[in-house]
Amino acid sequence: MLFDSHAHVNDARFDEDRHEMIMRAYENGVEMIMLPAISLESSLNGVEMTKQYEFIFAAVGVHPHEVKNMDEMTLEMIKGLAKNNKVKAVGEIGLDYFYDFSPREVQKEWFLKQLLLAKELQLPVIIHDRDAHQDVMDILCEANSFETGVIMHCYSGSKELALEYVKKGAYISLAGPVTFKNAKKAKEVAAAVPLDRLLIETDSPYLTPMPFRGKRNEPEYVKFVAMEIAGIRGIPFAEVAKATTENAKKIFGID
Ligand code: NI
Repeated sequence: MLFDSHAHVNDARFDEDRHEMIMRAYENGVEMIMLPAISLESSLNGVEMTKQYEFIFAAVGVHPHEVKNMDEMTLEMIKGLAKNNKVKAVGEIGLDYFYDFSPREVQKEWFLKQLLLAKELQLPVIIHDRDAHQDVMDILCEANSFETGVIMHCYSGSKELALEYVKKGAYISLAGPVTFKNAKKAKEVAAAVPLDRLLIETDSPYLTPMPFRGKRNEPEYVKFVAMEIAGIRGIPFAEVAKATTENAKKIFGID
């Protein structure tokens, strides 16, 4: 059994074949999926999808790209949605200094506010960190988010920083890039992070792993991430599948 800890299965790129794509993953062993949100609209839509599929869970929140339009009313609505029993996290939230689609001060303000909301709700957070390593760490510490759980989604930092996060109690989630030949850093992370702190994800429809790199990504391909990690660590695929599934269930509070 595999748990795809991050798949945007409500993305428009799945409009043509969403149900088939989800069932294809399920029938191929991806028996649980976490659907993260990027906006209020996708939070609402994600909660709706969890009602259609027993094995899909949702996170609610606003992505750093979108926080430029954020307001207190939106935060209140996110809070209301988070009370649904299939909502298991707040995310994806964080900072993106690569695209800078929202001003950095605005990103930081809403990142902190959403972290504090997650703490209030006693939910873990799914973190997006693109070229903002220091500020992400500082704000997570300021909010004391490690107490309620932190998942570093599509982790792209160094091995050293990953181990610092692990020491604080966070989980490191690896995605398709770990399968890329030149992904030296991600492979080092895959080898170094203790197995009880690793998660796997696709970030569908983005970041498609080898051998389908360049095509649309979907949860079924999370197996390629697990295979790569198994190869790097020299352990059986089944062991990676089992550990990452147990880890995801634990952090998201799923029985
Ligand atoms: Ni994502």
